[in-house]
Amino acid sequence: MLLEVLFILHVLQSQVLTVKSSSSESDESSERDEEHSKGSSHQQHWGYHDQDSWLSSYVDCGGKSQSPINLNTRQVTYDPRLPVIHLEGYDLTDTPPLSLLNNGHTLQLSLPNSMRIVRGFHQIYVAAQLHFHWGTTEVPGSEHTIDNIHFPAEIHVVHYNSKYPNLSEAASKADGLVVLGAFIGIGLHENDNYEKILSALTDVSREESNTEVPAFNIRHLLPNSLERFYRYNGSLTTPPCFQTVSWTLFNDTIRVSRRQLAALEDTLKTEHNKLLSRNFRAPQLLHGRNVLTSFQTVAAAGSARGAHLSETQDANIKESSETHEALSKGDVLAIVFGVLFAVTLLAFLMYAYQQRKKYSKYKRHSKRNVIYKPAVKEEA
Ligand SMILES: *[C@@H]1O[C@H](CO)[C@@H](O)[C@H](O)[C@H]1NC(C)=O
Ligand SMILES: *[C@@H]1O[C@H](CO)[C@@H](O)[C@H](O)[C@H]1NC(C)=O
Ligand SMILES: *[C@@H]1O[C@H](CO)[C@@H](O)[C@H](O)[C@H]1NC(C)=O
Ligand SMILES: [Zn+2]
Repeated sequence: MLLEVLFILHVLQSQVLTVKSSSSESDESSERDEEHSKGSSHQQHWGYHDQDSWLSSYVDCGGKSQSPINLNTRQVTYDPRLPVIHLEGYDLTDTPPLSLLNNGHTLQLSLPNSMRIVRGFHQIYVAAQLHFHWGTTEVPGSEHTIDNIHFPAEIHVVHYNSKYPNLSEAASKADGLVVLGAFIGIGLHENDNYEKILSALTDVSREESNTEVPAFNIRHLLPNSLERFYRYNGSLTTPPCFQTVSWTLFNDTIRVSRRQLAALEDTLKTEHNKLLSRNFRAPQLLHGRNVLTSFQTVAAAGSARGAHLSETQDANIKESSETHEALSKGDVLAIVFGVLFAVTLLAFLMYAYQQRKKYSKYKRHSKRNVIYKPAVKEEA
């Protein structure tokens, strides 16, 4: 029985390895494809293939408070005084339709200034737009990373300080912007709220095309819980990279179906009719900045057992995000190991039960033997 379990474990391991190596192969080949097309096409505007050159036209992109960053759960500071965020006017049911735009860099939904963050910061912040960052089927494309792991996609809801007249005025002011960000992973079910945007994707597939979508409750595009978040001072993640953003990244995540994510990755076109994908900037150096959290991470809780637990969790997340099946593959592995554990436990219990039966039989026998038949030879 034990051998059987070991064998299953071995087979499972080699399968995981195969999936991993095949996915990194396709990764490299699409990288090569991109090199080709880059050589032949001349880019007039900034793009995601030449991020290092952004700072030659936009000096702020070379600053010391740039975004995105890697969120290292072992190097964050728990701050219990971080106030909870209160949103107002996010439910747009019964308001006029919203404009959805493919601007060549992202998919962007315009938001009315009735949507506000009324508590959580020193001022009131007014919503302007939300947009997304994503990768390809092979490459997860969130901008921020958790312990160096990308999620498949990320949503940004951009707000500006209500003391300025509009987003463009506020964007260059030190206290100008607040962005709420959340990670998007793959779940088993269709996300009906995301479908309200994603169902209009084909209408905006061309660069600079837009359409209208019926208004809905924007709160439902964010994770259920907004109480656990990371907070740091950073920048716009696109040129001109102004270092004016107070970032909030939620610990709770959003899930969309595999089909929905694929639609986001495969529908929109950018200049020269190229696929609009991998629109994420590489993580930037911290340069001594603090990342605060409104919650205690497992690592920060500090016990040796907790630290070990989070290490194994990291490894699982890494494995699954490398195969780009993010959470669902992790779930499958968890179930498989759960079942294996149950089988092993059952086998052990059966073994123990048999041993006990044997032992009590032996005891009965020996008792009888002692009392009634002291001379009879004992069976094996
Ligand atoms: C933003 O406000 C400034 C100052 O009032 C104004 O000059 C500018 O045209 C406004 N920009 C937009 C995009 O509305
Ligand atoms: C961000 O910068 C402001 C102004 O310098 C500072 O008061 C605040 O503590 C910083 N926030 C974080 C999370 O470091
Ligand atoms: C959320 O917090 C838990 C506990 O610290 C951590 O394991 C997990 O990686 C975090 N996820 C995100 C997206 O921050
Ligand atoms: Zn963004």
